[in-house]
Amino acid sequence: MTPKNSWDAGLYQDKHAFVWQYGEDLLKLLNPEVGELILDLGCGTGQLTEKIAQFGTEVWGIDSAATMIAQAKQNYPHLRFDVADARNFRVDKPVDAVFSNATLHWVKEAEAAIACIHQALKSGGRFVAEFGGKGNVQHILTALHHALQTLGISNLQAMNPWYFPSIGEYATILEAQGFDVIYANLFDRPTLLTEGEAGMANWIQMFAGAFLTELSAEQQTQVIDAVEKSLQTKLYHKGTWTADYRRIRIVAIKN
Ligand code: BEZ
Repeated sequence: MTPKNSWDAGLYQDKHAFVWQYGEDLLKLLNPEVGELILDLGCGTGQLTEKIAQFGTEVWGIDSAATMIAQAKQNYPHLRFDVADARNFRVDKPVDAVFSNATLHWVKEAEAAIACIHQALKSGGRFVAEFGGKGNVQHILTALHHALQTLGISNLQAMNPWYFPSIGEYATILEAQGFDVIYANLFDRPTLLTEGEAGMANWIQMFAGAFLTELSAEQQTQVIDAVEKSLQTKLYHKGTWTADYRRIRIVAIKN
């Protein structure tokens, strides 16, 4: 089970809308055309799936979290959504494009996911994705590591649920599996966290829960307090936290 499988879909939808709001930009790169068949890989609660459908496409949303798919079906009952794993999904018929926003950094087995994406596409079909890239949330990760080490926890690599590749690393895997990479960009996207001074604690609980699962409630509070303290000067300004996101965007064509 990936950490994402246990997500609270209601919390995600209500408090983390920035995930798909930023994703709207990615739709421009996807440039959906009427009648196209498009797979939304890691669709979450379906907001971007619906936007893709509005272009007159036939779109299918998949996500590994049953809670997300249940919410997506409730939000958009006219669309098709299914629970499926990025590492081993299959499509009924080849698609024109695979779109993925803010998902593939949860998939450490990148080769397996790319093999599935390749198999899902028609020849000449496109893969358009955005996810956390090399250096993503580096300040937060460093602070978390220090706080956990203070508690004597050192197996941090094993706890880390994320895969944040460089352009070179990801493009190499894509090319090895039969894609031509026609666009790649790694860029900083400082992301304002809502909810004022609680923003960082809420973000850690939502996204970085994998680092806390072995801890008692008291230790969790200790870690979050320590992270907040060490990030205060870098990421907290005028009552608002900012997460040091760095994204990678990729467009690749199946050759
Ligand atoms: C995300 O799912 O958007 C995310 C996960 C980890 C770090 C940053 C963002």
